[in-house]
Amino acid sequence: MREAGESAHFGFREVPLEDKQALVDDVFRSVATRYDLMNDLMSGGLHRAWKDALVMAANPPCGRPSASGQSKTGARPFALIDLAGGTGDIAFRVLEAGGPATRVTVVDINADMLQVGRARAVERGLDQMVAFVEGNAEALPFPDRSFDAATIAFGIRNIPHIEAALAEAYRVLRPGGRFLCLEFSTVDVPGLAALYDFYSFNVIPALGRAVVGDADAYRYLVESIRRFPRPELFADMMRAAGFGRVSFRPMSGGIVALHSGWRL
Ligand SMILES: C[S@@+](CC[C@H](N)C(=O)[O-])C[C@H]1O[C@@H](n2cnc3c(N)ncnc32)[C@H](O)[C@@H]1O
Repeated sequence: MREAGESAHFGFREVPLEDKQALVDDVFRSVATRYDLMNDLMSGGLHRAWKDALVMAANPPCGRPSASGQSKTGARPFALIDLAGGTGDIAFRVLEAGGPATRVTVVDINADMLQVGRARAVERGLDQMVAFVEGNAEALPFPDRSFDAATIAFGIRNIPHIEAALAEAYRVLRPGGRFLCLEFSTVDVPGLAALYDFYSFNVIPALGRAVVGDADAYRYLVESIRRFPRPELFADMMRAAGFGRVSFRPMSGGIVALHSGWRL
C-alpha cells in the first residue's frame, strides 16, 4: 500500500497522494447537480445498460410474486452497500429490482452528490429504503460482515487508496457475499480505440464545458480512465484483498468491465 509522501495520479497529473482526494472532491462538487444528465449525454444512455448488468449480477431477491401469488424469496432481507454511490443511481436500480426487504446504503465522500441523491430518493418514494451516508470508502463506518453485497460503479478509480477500499469492501461483506465493481476499462479493438480516444479527449471536455461549465472536471474524468489499471491487474488487486472466484467481463468493446469477487 502506498504511504503518505508518495504520489498519485489526478488524471495525467502527478500529485501528492494526500492531495488527490481534495482534487477529486472539487470535481464532483462542481458537477453534482448536472452529473446524471452528463452521464446520459456522454454515454448516449449506455451507462444505464452497464448499470443494469451490475444490478442483475448483484441479484437482489426478486420482488415479483410466484405462480402461487406469493413471493417467498422476494421477502428475504437483503442489505447492499453501494460505495462511492453518488446520486444513488445504483441504489434505485437495486431497489426497483429487489423485493420489499431490500435495503441499500449509499456511501459517498461528497455531500453535494449525496444531497442530489436524497432528493431523487424522495421524488421516487424510495427514501425509506435507502440511506445516504457521508463517508470514505477507505474507512467505512460499519461493523464487519454487515452487508450481503457491495457494489461500486465508476467510483474506484477516484479513490486514492484503492487497496484500502477493496479491503474495506471485503471486511463489511458477510461470508458468501459478492463484490461487484463496474469501471471504465481498456478498449483493445483497434478501430474503436481510435474513435474512443477522439471522443474522450475532444467531445467529452466540450460537453463538460457546455453542460456543467467545467471542461477540466471532465478532462480529469477521461484521463483518470486511462490511468486505471488493466482489468487483469485489477483482478489481482481484488485477489490480494481476499476475494475469491474473481472474474471480470468486458462490455461494449472493453469501454467498461464488470469485476466480480466473493467473500468466501
Ligand atoms: C463517477 S462518480 C460515480 C457515482 C455513482 N456510483 C454512479 O455510478 O453514478 C464517483 C463518485 O466517487 C465518489 N468518491 C470519490 N472518492 C471517494 C471516497 N474516498 N470515498 C467515497 N466516495 C468517493 C465521488 O464523490 C463521486 O460521487
